[in-house]
Amino acid sequence: MEVILQPDRHNAARLVARIIAREIRAKPDLVLGLATGQTMEAVYRLLVKLHRDEALDFSRCRTFNLDEYVGLAPEDPHSYRFYMNERLFHQVNLDLRNTRLPDGRAADLSAECAAYERAIADAGGIDLQLLGLGKAGHIGFNEPLSALRSRTRVKALTPTTIEQNAAFFGGPEQMPRRAITMGVGTILECRRCLLLATGFDKAPIVAKAVEGPITSMISATAMQLHPRCTVVVDEAAGSLLKETEYYRWVFANEPEWEAFR
Ligand code: GLP
Repeated sequence: MEVILQPDRHNAARLVARIIAREIRAKPDLVLGLATGQTMEAVYRLLVKLHRDEALDFSRCRTFNLDEYVGLAPEDPHSYRFYMNERLFHQVNLDLRNTRLPDGRAADLSAECAAYERAIADAGGIDLQLLGLGKAGHIGFNEPLSALRSRTRVKALTPTTIEQNAAFFGGPEQMPRRAITMGVGTILECRRCLLLATGFDKAPIVAKAVEGPITSMISATAMQLHPRCTVVVDEAAGSLLKETEYYRWVFANEPEWEAFR
């Protein structure tokens, strides 16, 4: 795992967008794993800008999102399909047929989960997976006790997650109680992972995810097992990390990061 500290949330999102852009330019048919949440909105705005100003070409990319609520239609403004269409897919030259999210309205949810795993395998696996961080430490909707080898499946949401996301639904009663999510095992198979967390309210969970012991109670700690995971945080989200001087030294000295400093 590598940790990159950036002065503020704008610079953190900008670095993530630049890493994604570089990967797309190096491999135009990149298989990109995407995430939702407020933190990612800045990343998508910057990717749209890179598409418009610097001709970043998504035409051959394929995308897979981490998760989707059970029961929401794609045209429901609370669905992650709607979120992705609005913030990225409709704003760049992605072919919508190459964008995929789990179908939360499938009649047979287990079959949908298995089909999602097959589609990822058929695409040759995910090259670069973008990850946010839930306040309780989930990646995707891998709530506490998600097996570290879990695959795409239906998960019941915890009260913490419902509380965190209820505001967008106009209250906890309106919020779906379940979601389909890629499993921790599915995410660990992605060739590269890029986790973004910003703001003081994420500081305690960032410290646990990066420097704490691996536990299925906090699925983000599983990223410590990933051979190529980069964690990008702003100073606020990184404020409870212990080894910041070391992380800064690595970022300042590793040739890999030269283009991003
Ligand atoms: C939801 C999503 C996660 C996301 C998290 C963080 O729970 N399922 O994938 O990482 O929200 O959201 P935010 O960026 O709004 O803090």
